[in-house]
This record gives sequence, C-alpha cells and structure tokens, in this order.
Amino acid sequence: MSHIQIPPGLMELLQGYTVEVLRQQPPDLVDFAVDYFTRLREARVQAFVPSAAPPSAAAEPGPSPVPVADENADSDSEEDADLEVPIPSRFNRRVSVCAEAYNPDEEEEDTDPREQLSQVLDAMFERIVKVDEHVIDQGDDGDNFYVIERGTYDILVTRDNQTRSVGQYDNRGSFGELALMYNTPRAATIVATSEGSLWGLDRVTFRRIIVKNNAKKRKMFESFIESVPLLKSLEVSERMKIVDVIGEKVYKDGERIITQGEKADSFYIIESGEVSILIKSKTKSNKDGGNQEVEIARCHKGQYFGELALVTNKPRAASAYAVGDVKCLVMDVQAFERLLGPCMDIMKRNISHYEEQLVKIFGSSMDLIDPGQ
Ligand code: CMP
Ligand code: CMP
Repeated sequence: MSHIQIPPGLMELLQGYTVEVLRQQPPDLVDFAVDYFTRLREARVQAFVPSAAPPSAAAEPGPSPVPVADENADSDSEEDADLEVPIPSRFNRRVSVCAEAYNPDEEEEDTDPREQLSQVLDAMFERIVKVDEHVIDQGDDGDNFYVIERGTYDILVTRDNQTRSVGQYDNRGSFGELALMYNTPRAATIVATSEGSLWGLDRVTFRRIIVKNNAKKRKMFESFIESVPLLKSLEVSERMKIVDVIGEKVYKDGERIITQGEKADSFYIIESGEVSILIKSKTKSNKDGGNQEVEIARCHKGQYFGELALVTNKPRAASAYAVGDVKCLVMDVQAFERLLGPCMDIMKRNISHYEEQLVKIFGSSMDLIDPGQ
C-alpha cells in the first residue's frame, strides 16, 4: 500500500472542507460539499481568466490585491490577486500567511499528507467547562478557537469601564476566531452560563487552515459581496471581514428558510434565486384567524432578509420560502451585530416601509413588534 501516490493538494483540500464543516455545521454534508467544491472550481476559473469574473460596481480596474482585514491585521492577504491555482498545496505554496504565528515557508517540507491530516485532528481537543467559567477574557492574547458542542455562553464586552452582555451562544456556533485571524487582543469575554463542552483548535493550526481558507473565500465571494447594495457604504476591509464570517446555504424550490414566530439567529443575503416572504396575518380582513399565509414581498439576488427579528429582538415576523433553487449567504447574529452596525440606518429605514407595505396589502396595520404565530 505504501506505493500509492496521494496527489499533491488532496489533504489540504479535504482539510479546508472539513474545517468549513466544523465552522458552519451544515445540515447536509453532501449538499454542502457540492457547493463548496463548485465554488472552489469557479474561483479557479476566475483566477485563470480574470476578465471572466462577474463585473463588480466597486471593483478597481486591473488586478487588485486581496485586501487585508484591517491595519492591525498581519498579512492575511495571503495571496496576491495574480494568477494562481486556488487549491493550495505545500508543493505550490508561495506566500506567507502570517508574520508572527505561522509562516508556511518555514514549515518543514513535505511531510506525508496523511500525517498532516492527523496533525489537524490531533490538534483538536475537548474542553469541558463549568458554569461561570471564563473560556476567553477580553484583552488577552488569542490561544484557541472553539466550536461549541453543547452549553450556553454569554458574550460580554467591556467598553469605557462598563461591561454589558452583547449576546449569547445557545448550544451551537463557534467563537474565538477574531484574535487569531486578525492578530488582535480578545474582543470579548466568553463565560459559560451552563456546564458545557467545546472543541478547541490551537492558534497555529487554526491559522494554517482557516486563514488560508479565508483567503480562498475572499476570492470566491469578493465580487458578489461588493455588488450587494446594503454593504456599499462599508469600507473594503469591513466587507472582507463579512466574507470571513459568512457561510453559504442552498435551498430547494419551496423549501422554508425562515419560519414566522420562531426565534432568530441568522441574517440572509440572496446570492442567487428568489425568495418569497409570506405572513400569517391577524388583521380583521383575514377571517380565518390568521392561518392562511399571504405573500407580502419577493426578494432577489443581492437583497437581504431576516434582519427584522435581529434588530427588534423579536420572533420572526414572516416566513421565507425558496422560489426555485436558491443560494443564500448566511451570517450569525453575533457577526450581524458586530459587523453590520454601519448599515443599521439603511436597514431601519427599510423596516419602516414594511408596515406601509402591510397596510397596502391588508388594508390595516399589523403589529410587527408582536407578530404572533
Ligand atoms: P475573539 O476576539 O478571538 O475572542 C472573543 C470572541 O467573542 C470573538 O473572537 C468572537 O468570536 C466572539 N464575539 C461574539 N460577538 C462578539 C462581539 N459583538 N464583539 C466581539 N467579539 C464577539
Ligand atoms: P424577520 O422578521 O427576521 O424574518 C422575516 C423577514 O421577512 C423579515 O425579517 C424581513 O426581512 C422580511 N420582510 C419583508 N417584507 C416584510 C414585511 N412587510 N414585514 C415583515 N417582514 C418583512
């Protein structure tokens, strides 16, 4: 068996996929794989034929480097925008990821790829936490990234000597990536509010895999993200941070994406296809007591939905269904709050039109603040 040749790049390809699965925890691994690898192939085509990339309103003429996340970030812009096969391998690697924690050029040459994979898996460790335990303290240096297996956690941010809770994790999600990605101190304190269990990944392994992966993601989503009207007012570096945190989800025709009345934890931007927004009204004009869903809006490529419940901290005000096959970029509520603050005015302005829209359709006002089931 030892003579079997493992193609260069295979293990890193699979590692990248595995890490994205761990981060995004998609419900369907096969769908996720199809999508992930299709994206990768599209990015490769674009890399070889730059003019074939979709036009982007904000794009600069000529090749532009992948932007760095912010001035504190190290050389996260791992790859220049010139031609490059996006599937990395230690055989064709040519630039460094990180000035400080990880320099691939210094990495020992060409260990057996099977060893590489087992190194990553070995690097993941379980951490059991007790109630009130601080998993991360704001201001500390970053050591590990964590994926939640179970437990609830508070996110506390201290500013001007005032500490406030800015959100929670409830048995899912991941945290601790910011300090590792951007080489900054921990931006928040994470405290367990129940007994829990986490999977940790150490800084060096995280950077080796995730930062490299993020560079690929930037290539994959950069031009689309730049074309989204809501995000136009953001700085390029802010948009790239959005790319770093987004996941992609695919829905089949008729599939429900959001359910009215449910607790909200995600925000959506339509990457392709169409989404229908339906509401069960409780107005007098709806005599059956609000059981029938009525279409109130259609959203298209580049538009967003699912922000209302996150902004108002209420249950979902309406349901959303895929019309035909739909691809959405999805962001969790923590990233939404952290990164979309500058877009809040635009979103609030649009929210103020929802009520008018409903009055037009139902002939009377609806209480969006208490949407009911
Ligand atoms: P990091 O800065 O490494 O450590 C604290 C983590 O809290 C941070 O990464 C994020 O993963 C997570 N987090 C969640 N919400 C916020 C927020 N609003 N601001 C900063 N960090 C947050
Ligand atoms: P959210 O309440 O989180 O989930 C349902 C989404 O439907 C909502 O956010 C909005 O993004 C979207 N939507 C579109 N039009 C309306 C409307 N007129 N009223 C309420 N929600 C709407």
